Amino acid sequence: MSLSDNTAAILSAADNLLMPTYAPLQIVPDHGVGSTIVDTDGRSYVDLGGGIAVTSLGHSSEVLKKALFDQAEKLWHVSNVFTTEPAMKLAAQLIEHTFADRIFFSNSGAEANEAALKLARRHAFNNGEPERYEIISLHGSFHGRTLFTVSTGGNPNYKTGFGPAIEGITHIAPNDIQALRDAISPATAAVICEPIQGEGGVRPLDRDYLRAVRQLCTEHGALLIFDEVQTGVGRTGTLFAYEQTEVIPDVLTSAKSLGGGMPIGATLAGGACAEALTRATHGTTFGGNPMACAVANAVLDEVRSPAIKRNVHDRGAQIRDGLEQLGKEVGLFAEIRGTGLLIGAELADPFRDRAKEIQIAALAEGVIVLVAGPNVIRFAPALNITEAEVEVGIERLGTALTKVLGR
Ligand SMILES: Cc1ncc(COP(=O)(O)O)c(C=O)c1O
Repeated sequence: MSLSDNTAAILSAADNLLMPTYAPLQIVPDHGVGSTIVDTDGRSYVDLGGGIAVTSLGHSSEVLKKALFDQAEKLWHVSNVFTTEPAMKLAAQLIEHTFADRIFFSNSGAEANEAALKLARRHAFNNGEPERYEIISLHGSFHGRTLFTVSTGGNPNYKTGFGPAIEGITHIAPNDIQALRDAISPATAAVICEPIQGEGGVRPLDRDYLRAVRQLCTEHGALLIFDEVQTGVGRTGTLFAYEQTEVIPDVLTSAKSLGGGMPIGATLAGGACAEALTRATHGTTFGGNPMACAVANAVLDEVRSPAIKRNVHDRGAQIRDGLEQLGKEVGLFAEIRGTGLLIGAELADPFRDRAKEIQIAALAEGVIVLVAGPNVIRFAPALNITEAEVEVGIERLGTALTKVLGR
């Protein structure tokens, strides 16, 4: 793909000016409408990645622009020295439509989880059990990049070189009830899991397992935290994925799609633990920012509509069918899994570890897909992506696969 001087300069600036924590793909998005992005050289791409499950209503949504501009005319920021109407409206919406009794607002998924984990320890502490501070987490999980959340997450590489990890965290195999029975104890403050492990390869936890986790947490007086940063806000066909599991957590974290592209995180808690974080025990300057909350209110109104729910189901089926068709001739995929518009296609053995190569080839054909590890191609597009956009995206992916697989 040839790059203009301007595009090449921007990419080279990213190499030279930023700490190299990322390896950005070699185009530069400039603007977008719906699920189409146009780069600085005028090429257009169907966006099947949704900014990693964030742009829930696509790019340049009229509804979200209106919510943002209306709020921008009024008030941008006042800090937590005050409260504001958009923040209270959002808290009320989240409480009305979930199990939660209280909300803590922050700015990202990692911060929402940081608050959830601190809440769990503080809840035990408040109950006169300061020795109950252990956290049980699952291999393959991802909860963010702060020290507490990398210590909790299931990828040991993310902890390397940062000094001692936060102590008191045990990792066990997902979907192994006996492993949890063995690990849980009166010292367990909380068990944390994603109903579908997103970064870990779009791996759903079994329903029976989740039911057993709930039961064991209740028996041992531990909190159950669901990290719904990736699965939440309509992505799996219900507002939150827990609604499909018959399991109600004590704490749930949300971010990503909640802001539709505005940075926001929320920690939701129900029952007695919702009272755990009292004055001055936790905080953040931007949490509950009126601009982010105004947009999130509009996101929630939209994603709860029957039309979006239907679209999540229909487009999810369309992507899965499309992938099955593309993969069947050469047996490309070992498994296509996920729910609604969070889909992972795991590469079969002959194509092992080629997800990145496929992502780059797809980009060259005009379609953005995500990877989840070296062996899974991931799809997390806008919940309002159209049938035509999916059709074009899958067709372009097909062309890319033909080229990259040399057939
Ligand atoms: C399940 C889950 N939790 C937490 C996070 C961290 O969110 P953020 O990058 O907004 O801090 C992510 C991000 O990918 C995630 O998928």
